[in-house]
Amino acid sequence: MTSRVAIVLAAGRGTRMMSRTPKVLHRVCGREMVALVVDAAREAGYKDIVVVVPPAADGIRALFGESVRYAVQAKTLGSGHAVLAAKEAAAGYDHVAVLYGDAPLIRPETLAHMGKVHAEAGAAVTLLTSTPADPFGLGRIVRDGTGRASAIVEEADADAATRATHEINAGAYCFRGAWLWPNLEGLAPSAKGEVYLTDLVARAYQGGQAVADVGLSGGEAGAEEGFGVNDRVQLARAEAGLRRRIRERWMLAGVTMPDPESVYIDAAARIGQDTVILPNTHIKGASVVGANCELGPNTVIEDSTVGDGCRVTASFLRESTLKNGVVMGPFSHVRHGAVLADGVRLGNYAEVKNSTIGARTRAGHFSYLGDAEVGADVNVGAGSITCNFDGVHKHRTTIGDGVFIGSDTMLVAPVTIGRGARTGAGSVVTEDVPPDTLVYGVPAKPKAKGKPGRSGKQAKPGDPKAR
Ligand code: UD1
Ligand code: CA
Repeated sequence: MTSRVAIVLAAGRGTRMMSRTPKVLHRVCGREMVALVVDAAREAGYKDIVVVVPPAADGIRALFGESVRYAVQAKTLGSGHAVLAAKEAAAGYDHVAVLYGDAPLIRPETLAHMGKVHAEAGAAVTLLTSTPADPFGLGRIVRDGTGRASAIVEEADADAATRATHEINAGAYCFRGAWLWPNLEGLAPSAKGEVYLTDLVARAYQGGQAVADVGLSGGEAGAEEGFGVNDRVQLARAEAGLRRRIRERWMLAGVTMPDPESVYIDAAARIGQDTVILPNTHIKGASVVGANCELGPNTVIEDSTVGDGCRVTASFLRESTLKNGVVMGPFSHVRHGAVLADGVRLGNYAEVKNSTIGARTRAGHFSYLGDAEVGADVNVGAGSITCNFDGVHKHRTTIGDGVFIGSDTMLVAPVTIGRGARTGAGSVVTEDVPPDTLVYGVPAKPKAKGKPGRSGKQAKPGDPKAR
């Protein structure tokens, strides 16, 4: 078995980003560029990954923890110098892939294919090329009379004729390990004082080694895969490219998008079959959406789980869970650890935070349920609020199954409403309510015997006012 390692370069300064954040930590479709590259390497079957980092790299280390190994490049002296920094960690492997942490669109299929071509050719180096319409700033591929790649020339060092060519180095390589390390050490620095990894191609060619290459086909769309990000205009282009790819992946997997251009799905999100995503809908972070849902228009779902058959219209859902058949919106806001059980319905201006809501419970109109445990089949009347914050501390509200919260009820937490209880409209509930009890007033008190409560005014069965 060939032993394989992937080295991901992430030590560059990224000055053209004009950012305080290291370049490779900028996100494309919600995921850091360097993480997208590491994901691709892993999916292509590279179990051992070495990330080359600058001396201060807390952000990168926090991202991967112990799932990768790190090599520190003390000074940014070029991509060749960066690979050399990984020698201790990556020496001894038969096959060494090198990827750039700023080229986030690379696909695992391409890396796997490169590995195969590399092995079949018995090459010292295999490189990835593409032919974009605008090759500005990229290393150009030089070929000999027989069409074999003989060198990569950086644009800054290229003559006018070479600059006029469009075939470029996309920045992914496979090396034969035993050949790589001694030859890397032999490379001379460029005029700029940097050691270019790309110089290894001429070295292999001149040394009579086999040099193989894989071209990204599909013209401009194909070239996009090798797209490197050096500034924020390119970051936006990478975002657009990956976003399109992600959408097409889900459409081909059975998700309907009548207007795909206006749908934003992050790299880590998952979506079930026959779900329909309407315009201006964002599915962010590690969200998981079930089958047969309808999301949008104008909906944001972030780091949340949505069950099957849910409908979320013009609403925000963050760090929360919807079970099956939940209907939300328009204009609902569910956030921070809320869990809505099967068949819950939230209407306009209903907010739920850090609460569990039981099956079939309804909050149809402007209301706030925060730090609450709400049972099943509860009706939350319009304008009702859990007053969870006393100015210093947050307190919990517990509402039992089958409770009827009258319109405009203030539930002053901590407070418990027993199962089957009712509150009258405009109640301010400051004390626990026993099960099956009607309370009303400010502060709310149980209905005194003989006096009519809300129930006394209810329409009788058969009454034309009964609904
Ligand atoms: C590089 C290639 C160029 C290719 C292009 C593709 C070289 C010399 N040139 O140019 O042929 O067409 O990518 O996008 O490799 N890095 C380090 N340490 C360093 C320098 C760079 O870790 O000292 C890392 C960067 O973080 C980055 C990657 O290497 O992830 C590429 O470096 P960058 O400076 O962006 O190279 P390009 O000029 O884009
Ligand atoms: Ca680059």
